[in-house]
This record gives sequence, C-alpha cells and structure tokens, in this order.
Amino acid sequence: MRVGIIGANGWLGAILGRRLLDSGVVTPDRLAVLTRDARSQPLYSGYAGVTWARDADDIVARCDVIVVSVRPHDWEDVILAAPGRLLISFMAGITLSDLAQTGARCARAMPNAAAELGKSYTPWIGDGLVTAGDAATLENVLSVLGSVERLHDEAHLELMAAVPGSGSAYPALMAQAMLDWLTQAGVAPETACRAVEGVICNAAQLLEGRIAQACQVLHDYRDYRGMTAAGLDAADAAGFSSSMRIALDAAVERGRMLRRQPAGGTS
Ligand SMILES: NC(=O)c1ccc[n+]([C@@H]2O[C@H](COP(=O)([O-])OP(=O)(O)OC[C@H]3O[C@@H](n4cnc5c(N)ncnc54)[C@H](OP(=O)(O)O)[C@@H]3O)[C@@H](O)[C@H]2O)c1
Repeated sequence: MRVGIIGANGWLGAILGRRLLDSGVVTPDRLAVLTRDARSQPLYSGYAGVTWARDADDIVARCDVIVVSVRPHDWEDVILAAPGRLLISFMAGITLSDLAQTGARCARAMPNAAAELGKSYTPWIGDGLVTAGDAATLENVLSVLGSVERLHDEAHLELMAAVPGSGSAYPALMAQAMLDWLTQAGVAPETACRAVEGVICNAAQLLEGRIAQACQVLHDYRDYRGMTAAGLDAADAAGFSSSMRIALDAAVERGRMLRRQPAGGTS
C-alpha cells in the first residue's frame, strides 16, 4: 500500500501522517505528502524517505490510496483525477457524488480531535465501487487514529460530523459554564480549574464503555434525590436537552454550507 496525503501539513493530515509512520502501518518510502507550503517540510523531517509530491497528479502517480484532508472550501482548487485509486476524504459537506468526479473509488471518513491521542471514533462510508479489499485497507489506515466503524447511509456521516466531529467542544462549553459559575462565586481560578477538570475529564471516564447506560446513570442520580437531582431537573426545565438538539442541527446546517464559504472546517 502506498499512501498519499493531500493537506499533510494541516492539523488532521499531520496527525494521520505521523501516526501512520509511528505505527509502522506505512513505511516512509510508501508515504507521499502534498502541502501548499514547502516550509512545512520539517514536519516529516524525522522520517527519511517521505516523498514531497509536486502536485496532485504526482501524488496520484505514486499512490494507490489518497487521503484528502483539506478544508471543504479548498476542495475546488485540488484538481484531482485519480481513476483506479482509493480516495478517502475527511471533508465535511463534500459528498460521495462530488468525489466521484475524480474517477476514484471513493470513501468519506470523519475522525475527531481524539485522533491526537489515538482515540478517535472514526465512522466511514464508501461508494458502490469500494471493494472488500478497500474496506480492509480503510480500516487499516484509519485504525491508527483509533476505532473505526463502517456506516451505510451518507446522511448519517453528516450527523457524525456534528457529534464525534465536534471533539472536545461541547465538554469545553460545559466546562466554561462551570468555571464561570465557580469563579463568579469567588472560587480562585486555579481551584475552579481543578474542580471542573475532576468532573469533565475524570468523572466522565466512568461512562467509558457504558455510554448506552447514560439514561440509567441519570435515573440513578435522580433517584438519589440529592443536590445533583435538583440540578438535573433544573437543567432540563431550562431547556438543556433542547439546546443540545438545536446546537447539533445548527452544526449540520453549517456543514452543508462549508464548501461554499471561505473559512472553517468540521471543528
Ligand atoms: N479538525 C477536526 O477535528 C476535523 C474532524 C473531522 C474532519 N475534519 C476535516 O478534515 C479536513 C482537514 O481539517 P484540519 O482541521 O486538519 O484543517 P487544517 O488544519 O486547516 O488543514 C488543512 C490543510 O490543507 C492544506 N491545503 C489546502 N489546500 C491545499 C491544496 N490545494 N494542496 C495541498 N494542501 C492544501 C492547508 O494548507 P495551508 O496551511 O497552506 O492553508 C492546510 O495545511 C477538513 O476538511 C475538516 O472538515 C476535521
């Protein structure tokens, strides 16, 4: 397998490139990278043998698997003709039918920020040309970022861009609200940070592997009839759940616009 990454200097492209090399899934002589900026070369300088492609045609000539990790509005500038190749796009809002114009066998994948830790949940979807062998290749490549799951409805991938694609954004939103509440009540900022980290980062680990039981966890807290039950009831009454639904709908709507707007990405 020879892998090419277009946008290899970007946040996600660089994580993929480095993790492919560090894991040994791809050896440096089998990785080609394309960036817009030649100054980005030091990023892969520890790996002798990585090829710096001249342009998209060069990467197609060198690779059988091509990952596109540019922002959606930059896609139109990537003139890519890749018949016979497996194309994996990370771009939100660029559909399988858009990608089909490349002539490649096409797939879309949606990693998230936890890729940096090798803990992304990465759903993907392929077009009708993707073979069983391609699926194995995809799982092999994407597994360096974390866990991988094949979906069968492209609309669901857009929903995934709003949920796992958001990375730590919504936990950060909750963290900020808690920090503000504590510090406005006079708690020292450093103490507030330790307290909120204890909830958002540490206690939340109790849900790992049992997220399907979130409803039961809430039920148990409510059953206890203590302070947290009162807080949960008040949050519900103030529209917490509907706020989340409105937020996720807005994110999906933004995803539909991304290819036409000169800023932004999934995050
Ligand atoms: N960040 C996330 O959590 C996340 C999650 C899931 C999916 N995604 C998707 O993944 C893609 C990359 O996201 P990102 O956060 O890594 O964005 P990013 O940091 O902005 O990286 C994009 C990279 O693409 C490069 N680029 C743009 N046009 C190019 C071209 N024609 N040829 C070669 N390189 C080109 C950019 O170069 P310059 O440095 O010159 O601009 C930049 O380095 C986006 O489509 C995003 O929607 C991101």
